Amino acid sequence: MYDYKSFILEKIKHINTSIFFNESFTNIDNYLNDVDQNNIFFLVDNKVFELHKTLFQPNKNTLLIKSTEDSKSIKNVSSLIEKILKLGGNKKSYIIGIGGGIVCDITGFIASIFMRGIRFAYVPTTVLSITDAALGGKNGVNFNHIKNLVGTINEPNFVLVDLCFLDSLKENEFNDGFAEIIKHACIASPELFKKLEKSLISYESRDLLSEILKESISIKLNIVSKDINDLTLRKILNFGHTFGHAIEAKYNFSHGNSVSLGMIYACQISNKLGYLSDEKVNRVKNLLNKFGLPVDISKINVSEILHLIEKDKKVKYNNIDFIILRDIGCAEILNIKISDLIHA
Ligand code: GLY
Repeated sequence: MYDYKSFILEKIKHINTSIFFNESFTNIDNYLNDVDQNNIFFLVDNKVFELHKTLFQPNKNTLLIKSTEDSKSIKNVSSLIEKILKLGGNKKSYIIGIGGGIVCDITGFIASIFMRGIRFAYVPTTVLSITDAALGGKNGVNFNHIKNLVGTINEPNFVLVDLCFLDSLKENEFNDGFAEIIKHACIASPELFKKLEKSLISYESRDLLSEILKESISIKLNIVSKDINDLTLRKILNFGHTFGHAIEAKYNFSHGNSVSLGMIYACQISNKLGYLSDEKVNRVKNLLNKFGLPVDISKINVSEILHLIEKDKKVKYNNIDFIILRDIGCAEILNIKISDLIHA
């Protein structure tokens, strides 16, 4: 039995989400004191539900979500809204999303549009969602096969991080989330980068894992706090994602694997432009490799990927805000022609 030493992460100015870190999911009711129990809707990843059935009370409103991109369709959103309405959902309802990034996206989106917005919270169950998807308020669903085309920026009331859910992740699923942690280190923290290089992190090394996750969460929230609407600084969180999203769409790789390859590509561009030394590109490569993340982009068809990038919602007049590294721990937004990205 794990000894929970739960605490609330230090409040960051302009961030409206409370982070209950290392808290047991079984204590969630403590944070929902003012809510009618029948008016709470749990949107749960179906695999998480199967694996942790005993944690879910049968008398609660529970709707299951498959963790696939297909679930992020307007059709699925409208069917979930219909179910919430049938179960008596109203303006005072509270939605709790329990799962990975897909569940967070759907939960945040529904809570933002249902009755013009109701309260919501996340219980992220993957490394990736703890360190990224549950934070910062971005949500979205796919439209006309374009990922996250429709969505809002709306912060959850709270995020409850119960590390016990990570126990059931396979090694590759666990490691996948480290792509986002390494991203945070690359763009903002040489100290975290060094720590990741030095340490051996696994589910069993709970104190170290907690420390790394906490650092990664505060890097993300500090960046978001300065630009919640994603107009300036927040864009650096897209490091590795321009290329990564296109790889994900084309090759159907996992998010972390795609972002890993995207970061390698962005490092190579940074190197070609004279910002990042060969030695530092290799350090990023070695770190990703250490977490079992892919680093070989030789088999990726770059021109096909660039063609997909042209369709990216962030492209304006064939130019894109591409995130490069000036150094490990220091990112910069470079407005660049897509055609100039081919030379890496
Ligand atoms: N995942 C990138 C962001 O939240 O801005």
